[in-house]
Amino acid sequence: MAHAPTDSDYIVITPDPPLKPAPAILTTPTAMRRWRAAHPGPLGLVPTMGYLHEGHIDLVHRARRENMHVVVSIFVNPTQFGPNEDFEKYPRDEVRDLNLLRDAEVDAVYLPSAAEMYPRGFQTYVSVEDVTQPLEGASRPGHFRGVTTVVLKLFNATGPDRAYFGKKDAQQLRVIQRMTRDLDLGVEIVPCEIVREPDGLAMSSRNVYLTPAQRAAAPVLKQALEHARNLWNSGVRDAETLRRAVRSQIEGEPLAEIEYISLAEDATLRELDGPAAGAALLSLVVRFGHTRLLDNVELR
Ligand code: PAJ
Repeated sequence: MAHAPTDSDYIVITPDPPLKPAPAILTTPTAMRRWRAAHPGPLGLVPTMGYLHEGHIDLVHRARRENMHVVVSIFVNPTQFGPNEDFEKYPRDEVRDLNLLRDAEVDAVYLPSAAEMYPRGFQTYVSVEDVTQPLEGASRPGHFRGVTTVVLKLFNATGPDRAYFGKKDAQQLRVIQRMTRDLDLGVEIVPCEIVREPDGLAMSSRNVYLTPAQRAAAPVLKQALEHARNLWNSGVRDAETLRRAVRSQIEGEPLAEIEYISLAEDATLRELDGPAAGAALLSLVVRFGHTRLLDNVELR
């Protein structure tokens, strides 16, 4: 005969290790600031545009090791995309991202809407001068003004002690370092190494745009940069020789269309002519179809 269930009717399983708690999700600057006020102590911020890959997660792990609290922001920032760029079709997968961030033991995810970030009448921007002019600044007018503005807003909402940025976006890193110093933001900017696929392609949310043939050809970027690094290590310093070495390797790949190859002074990103005296950044953008791939190597 049926009876009312008692405790002995259930098998209670306590997962070991215990299930990880879901991060708090904050969707407005006010909610984010309140959460921060309730969580004093060292906080690491990882700003992202989502569609997370192992490069992003590596930043998160580093932040987890170094801080009491970790916040990841996910915001596809419209002001850093040009009118003919991929803002509308930028890949998004919030549920997958949130699961990855729970696994990485993030405390909070800041997920503001564009309407919250850029209310009607918005008209205040941060612009960093010289270091935003060459390279990505020249190819994408207004891009860095959008990046610095949103990063300052993310800092203001989350109140980080440290913020983690990938060396993959080497110019972005330098621009953020400049802004942080110039505006006395008091945030430690932590540069993180480039995470690559096993065949050398730098991880990027945009890699999903590549066709199988383009994907198979894309490791030529890393191979060309490695070739230049070997020349550097064997004593070659002439800027044009190094740029030409990279160019000729990439030109051997018919699907690759070079947008720029740069050898610049590491700190200022001023393009080098003649021999490099100190540390240099060798960076490039190569298009495969409509997809722009960025990569770089530090030469020191
Ligand atoms: P996003 O392209 O999502 O990148 C977020 C952070 O992850 C950046 O600091 C970027 O340099 C880093 N990153 C991306 N790919 C990486 C890789 N393969 N290895 C190591 N780090 C990698 O960069 C942005 O978003 C935006 O411009 C942002 C800073 C969030 C402002 O909107």
